[in-house]
Amino acid sequence: MKGLILSGGKGTRLRPLTYTRAKQLVPIANKPVLFYGVEAIVAAGIRDIGVVVGDTREEIQAALGDGARFGARITYIEQDAPRGLAHAVLISEKYLRGEPFVMYLGDNVIADGITALVDDYRRIGCNSQILLAKVPNPSQFGVAELEAGRVVRLTEKPKEPKSDLALVGVYMFDDSIWDAVKSIQPSARQELEITDAIQWLVDHGKTVHPHLVSGWWKDTGKIEDMLEANRIILDTFTARGCDNLGADCRVEGKVVVEPGARLERASVRGPAVIGAGATVRDAFVGPYTAIGPDCLIDRCEIENSIVLEASRLERIPVRIADSLIGKNVRIHPGLERPRVHRFLVGDNSEIGLV
Ligand code: G1P
Repeated sequence: MKGLILSGGKGTRLRPLTYTRAKQLVPIANKPVLFYGVEAIVAAGIRDIGVVVGDTREEIQAALGDGARFGARITYIEQDAPRGLAHAVLISEKYLRGEPFVMYLGDNVIADGITALVDDYRRIGCNSQILLAKVPNPSQFGVAELEAGRVVRLTEKPKEPKSDLALVGVYMFDDSIWDAVKSIQPSARQELEITDAIQWLVDHGKTVHPHLVSGWWKDTGKIEDMLEANRIILDTFTARGCDNLGADCRVEGKVVVEPGARLERASVRGPAVIGAGATVRDAFVGPYTAIGPDCLIDRCEIENSIVLEASRLERIPVRIADSLIGKNVRIHPGLERPRVHRFLVGDNSEIGLV
């Protein structure tokens, strides 16, 4: 079996962060989202992984390399424009044909990994396996209708969903997918939808096995989803690196202090991670917070947030919460008169003042 990770797309819903980095490389619990997918595929015993890349190909290649550090062999497949998930499959035919494969959307995170699902697929021997999860907002996903446990209809982002079962971004296919992706037409948004390709399989008598995901799953396309994924992954951590902290520091719960991080008169309440080389001084880092490498958190309080590398938060009088702060950001009160809020903020940013 091979793997196919889709890592193109523009990540418009994650702006402004995605102006300067691929959405799949935004970190959750200090690790790029994409790495969770690669690790899950490798853990399922799959070594050969094709990664479909678009505009951000250089960055993705720099992050994943040849895959050796994950125990994988990665082959990059270039997509000229985001023409849909089924288009990404279509252009990967040469790489994939002749073997079943698991397709994984690079911005999805599945708590329990995919090993059991891949084993299931191998055992059942169906043409395709799809993963479904109950969601409160099905119209934002591909939606499946089942009858007597069988897939009968799949609709991409329906305005009036007929079920609350969303397609999770992990799919398994055999060679029957090639006829499907070549037969479908572009959707209203001018993309070749994988949802339509799977419907084609159903309509042509192929076996599409639905697997209900019981554990937690997240499509990290939006900021609130990133924060939720961050919370859930931090919660799986075991405390580490907290043994040699000074007597002036207080650390409670699942706290990971990465090598070279410095805590001075700091209070950290887990789950939380403090990145390598970061400094937390006279500050409180509260639950569900990931402080990236080389950050400075000085005389402020922060919780339920993600801070990317080398950002500096200094002398902020009100607690920061529910925030996603990019890299190299500086937030601090100005010393000059008049005392004003002074902003240098990129496009599509959002600032919530007290
Ligand atoms: C894609 C698929 C959709 C699926 C979702 C899962 O949507 O088109 O069917 O439910 O991934 O993450 P996108 O997030 O690309 O809009």
